Amino acid sequence: MGREEALVLAETASTNTLLKQLALAGAPAGSLCLCETQTAGKGRLGRSWHSPAGQGLWLSVLLRPRIKPEVAPLVTLCVAMAMAQAVRKVTGLDAQIKWPNDLVLRGKKLCGVLLEIGFGPQGIDYIVAGTGLNVRKGAYPADLAHQATSIEDHISPPPRRELLVHYLAALEEITDRLEESDFAGIAGDYRVHSCTLGSQVKVSGSMEFTGTAEDIDETGALLVRDECGELRRVLAGDVSVRGVMGYV
Ligand code: BTN
Repeated sequence: MGREEALVLAETASTNTLLKQLALAGAPAGSLCLCETQTAGKGRLGRSWHSPAGQGLWLSVLLRPRIKPEVAPLVTLCVAMAMAQAVRKVTGLDAQIKWPNDLVLRGKKLCGVLLEIGFGPQGIDYIVAGTGLNVRKGAYPADLAHQATSIEDHISPPPRRELLVHYLAALEEITDRLEESDFAGIAGDYRVHSCTLGSQVKVSGSMEFTGTAEDIDETGALLVRDECGELRRVLAGDVSVRGVMGYV
């Protein structure tokens, strides 16, 4: 494999899409793609991601972790943890993780994470870990101000470069821990940074119910105690946390 690539661009459609192409062409782990603006930024669940010029950290990192395919969903938790750690360390702000991987600050969304995973005959071929961190106030549309926030809403000027450097270092350290000890390597830290665990949640999608989020299991699934007292595993879908991002 060749040397890691670091693409820093003024504009691209989506850093995830571009890095996925590089991954398929054999780019090594640690390659990254960062841009000032995306013209077709992608969010989770097929949504688009607003990515105006110079307002965010629109970034994708290529990972090729030596983990079993069933551990792959835990990488999404690692990415959110790395960004939470970077924000806390660089700014002192109390960034928390809304399961599985939204970063929130004082109840509003600060960063989204989108993972794209490619499998080959040997298991995981690549994971493109995309993060959209709202750095400046213009990162999110004005009509989302009730549920979105940015670093600049709390600290000015926002330290974008330092956030990038600390995020990359934290991501490497946390994914190493995942490779070494699977869930046990990250569970403690994830619980500490979570705003979901211990809170009242509303689960929507293929199953719909409300309850209290008690824990995550070794696959990264959320364990929610429903109103009948039954503990239910939530694997994916939308989970709203009371008091966070507009859920009252
Ligand atoms: C979400 O819906 O919360 C996830 C948003 C992820 C956005 C980032 S920005 C950089 C990377 N490239 C994309 O097209 N999406 C991700």
